[in-house]
This record gives sequence, C-alpha cells and structure tokens, in this order.
Amino acid sequence: MTIPAQTSGATLTKDAAPGETLLKVTGLQKHFPIKKGLLQRQAGAVRAVDGIDFEVRAGETLGVVGESGCGKSTMGRLITRLLEPTAGKVEFQGKDITHLGVGGMRPLRRDVQMIFQDPYSSLNPRHTIGTIVSAPFKLQGVQPEGGVKKEVQRLLSVVGLNPEHYNRYPHEFSGGQRQRIGIARALALNPKLVVADEPVSALDVSIQAQVVNLLDDLQQELGLTYVIIAHDLSVVRHVSDRIAVMYLGKIMELADRDLLYKSPMHPYTKALMSAVPIPDPARKSAKSERILLKGDVPSPIAPPSGCRFHTRCWKATQICTTTEPPLKELRPGQQVACHHPENFEDQAPQDVVLLSAAKEAAELVSEEALAESAATSAAVAAEVGAESAKTPASDGDKPAAEGTDGTDGDATEGTDGDGTDGTGESAGAADGSTDEKPPAKEK
Ligand SMILES: Nc1ncnc2c1ncn2[C@@H]1O[C@H](COP(=O)(O)OP(=O)(O)OP(=O)(O)O)[C@@H](O)[C@H]1O
Ligand code: SF4
Ligand SMILES: [Mg+2]
Repeated sequence: MTIPAQTSGATLTKDAAPGETLLKVTGLQKHFPIKKGLLQRQAGAVRAVDGIDFEVRAGETLGVVGESGCGKSTMGRLITRLLEPTAGKVEFQGKDITHLGVGGMRPLRRDVQMIFQDPYSSLNPRHTIGTIVSAPFKLQGVQPEGGVKKEVQRLLSVVGLNPEHYNRYPHEFSGGQRQRIGIARALALNPKLVVADEPVSALDVSIQAQVVNLLDDLQQELGLTYVIIAHDLSVVRHVSDRIAVMYLGKIMELADRDLLYKSPMHPYTKALMSAVPIPDPARKSAKSERILLKGDVPSPIAPPSGCRFHTRCWKATQICTTTEPPLKELRPGQQVACHHPENFEDQAPQDVVLLSAAKEAAELVSEEALAESAATSAAVAAEVGAESAKTPASDGDKPAAEGTDGTDGDATEGTDGDGTDGTGESAGAADGSTDEKPPAKEK
C-alpha cells in the first residue's frame, strides 16, 4: 500500500526525519468571546484553550485525553489552523504558521489533515463518496497519476472499502464505513500530520477496534504522525507514544505512554485512569478501586484560581488555590503541573490536609488491595533498586522516586494501590512508614 507523491503543487516544508519536531505549540490560547445586549458588547469569554505548550515529533502518535468540554477539539482545530488562535504560537517544521492567511495556508492544507469527531455530520449527505474523497485534489489543484477517479478508488481500497462504491452516498454506509471515508479523504494528499478528533467515539465498540487498527496500519505503512483526541484513556492507550491529559483548557500531564500508565503523577490523571475498565481477566479477582471526583467540571468562563483542578482534588492545599502550578518535567519524559504530584518524593507529607485525607481514604480500601499493594510496592522497589544500582538517576533537579512510588506497573487496574504509598513513602520510604494511605477512593 503506497500513496504516490503528487505530481503538482508544492508542500510547505521538507520532510521531517523520525523523532524531529514536526509541530511545536507555545502558549496557545483560544478564548471565544461571549457577547451580550443589543450592542453585542463582549461580556466575557469561554477560555476553551488557555495557554498550552507541547510538541509533536515526526512519526509519533500523541494522544490527547480529557473530559468533555476541556478544549480538545478546539486545540485540534487550532493546530490544523481551522481556528485562529487568541494568543500563542504554532510552528510546523520550524515555520511560524500561527497567523497565516488563506493563501499562506494553502500548501499547509496538504501537510496537515483532520479526521472529524462525528462521521455522520462530517460528510455532506448530498455528495457521493467519489466527490467527497476527490475534493482535496480539486481544492489543491492536484492531478494524481492515472487521474482522480483511479486515485480515489485506490484510497477507498486502502481504507478497506469497496472501490465500486464510488458513486454511493454517505447514508448507504455504516458509521464505521463513514469513518473510513473520512480517513480516505484525510489521506488523499499524502499528509504529514493527521489530527483525529475522537475518531471512534461515535462507533460501536466492535467497530472501534477495526478503525483504530486501520489508523495504526496506515501509520506504519505511510509514516504518518498523529494527534489522536479521545475522552478516555482506553482508546489512546494502545496507539499513543505519548499522552497529554487536558483539564479546563490546560495540559495537566504530558508523558510517555508507559510512564503515564505505570506511575501517573497528576491526581487528575490518576482519577481518569481509575475509570478505565480492567481488561485483564487474570486480575478479575482484584477488587477495583475508583477515584470518584467530586462535583462538576467548573465553567471555562471563570476557571478556578491557582490550580484549576483544586475544586475537585483530594490533595488540594492552600497553595493550590492561589498559585497555578507550571507544567514541569519532573522525570525524564514526564511533565506535570501539580504542587503535590503523586509517585514523587516531593509530596509535602507534613501537610495536615493531605495526611487526614489520606488516612480517611485508607479506610475505603480493602485489606486485599492493601496487601497486594504492599507486595507490588516491595517488588517494584526491589526492581528499581537493582536498576538504579546499574544506572544513576539522570534527573538532577529532583530525582524520581520510582523506588518508593509503589506502582505495580499497571495503574489502570485499580487495585495496585499506587496511591496507597504515594503520599507516605515519599517521607517514610526508608522506614517503610505506611501511615498515609490512598487518596479519596472507593471500591
Ligand atoms: N465556537 C465556539 N464558541 C463558543 N464556545 C465554544 C466554541 N467552540 C467550543 N466552545 C466551548 O469551548 C469549550 C471547549 O470545547 P471543545 O469542543 O474544544 O471541548 P472538547 O474537549 O472537544 O469536548 P468534547 O469531548 O465534548 O468534544 C467548551 O466549553 C465549548 O462550549
Ligand atoms: S494537588 Fe494541588 S496542584 Fe496538584 S492537582 Fe491537586 S489541586 Fe492541583
Ligand atoms: Mg470535542
């Protein structure tokens, strides 16, 4: 399966080598104005994306997760320049594209494509599949080898559809097939970056896996770079190299996939993970432990002061209400915006609020979960101890506390108790103090 280089039209930039920065976002904001009254005066703004920084490397998949309304789609539309940012900068292969006009964006449209959230509304019902998938060629004035029709039929077969269905209309296809049509359209011009906004959330679970696998195969074969947006971690888990966790327009944690799953450091990430079902039947006997977040997501019109997660966070202290924590690299490959991160040595164990919340929460955890946690903590500590004897810690600023974090290597399974010692062992690792137990969770 190969997509030939197009015969006319120039792309904006040269190809990026795998691992090089393809897209870089700095201080990106989108505030939608709220207008009121006859004169339509601005009465406020929805701070949908409120200052985010990240980069996407060539060949990788960056997963973006967060609850509904946290700004994921807005972020996707900003980086594909379907929306004009309020502030900040977007660079694509080193070129500033933040404020490019329609003409300046034309070549970029070939390099950056988007797959939309809803396959039912993103395809024009009055156009045939052939017209829909051939539109990018017409818009860009590109004439593929062998003609547009032949190329569109080839693309349909690449995404697993019958090329004979070229003249059919969207209503004649199922949801999964429509999403394949959207993928074919996105691939038409041989893009470098594909932003997929919840590509499977509108599909049945059985079809979801097929579409995720298709995206994965296409990436392998075409060397694509993806930003895949999802509202829970189960979809992005298998396809992402790195994952960004968003909350109310901000990135709370951005980490390599394995680090994020083994030892999430932001309390919100832990809460999201505890909601992911246990896929491993061998662990069915383990009681699941869930973090129930209090209250609703606050309004993005007036986000909470300081850390915007503080109104729902079981670890919040005074500083969280006044000072916004910056997104900092606390371990190599793991950036976190939190004053009291989990699975880290600097967890303010002297904090009374923290201790009482942790003790209270400990009563909600079953004896089996605690025993299992203790066993896995000991195993992980031994493994990390042996490992660090070989390699000294490289994070000079704040050495990682992997040896004491007590994760069992799969935080999604819920009973690992990575929080059971998360707040305690940072202080009492040496003496094995276990008087501080997990944050507010229940089985
Ligand atoms: N065009 C717009 N005008 C005003 N507000 C908007 C606009 N688009 C989005 N918003 C608001 O911005 C916030 C973020 O919306 P966005 O669609 O980016 O969230 P999301 O994370 O993609 O949510 P979901 O998971 O439900 O798709 C929401 O509060 C939404 O109401
Ligand atoms: S501990 Fe504080 S800074 Fe960290 S997530 Fe909770 S409220 Fe935010
Ligand atoms: Mg969305």
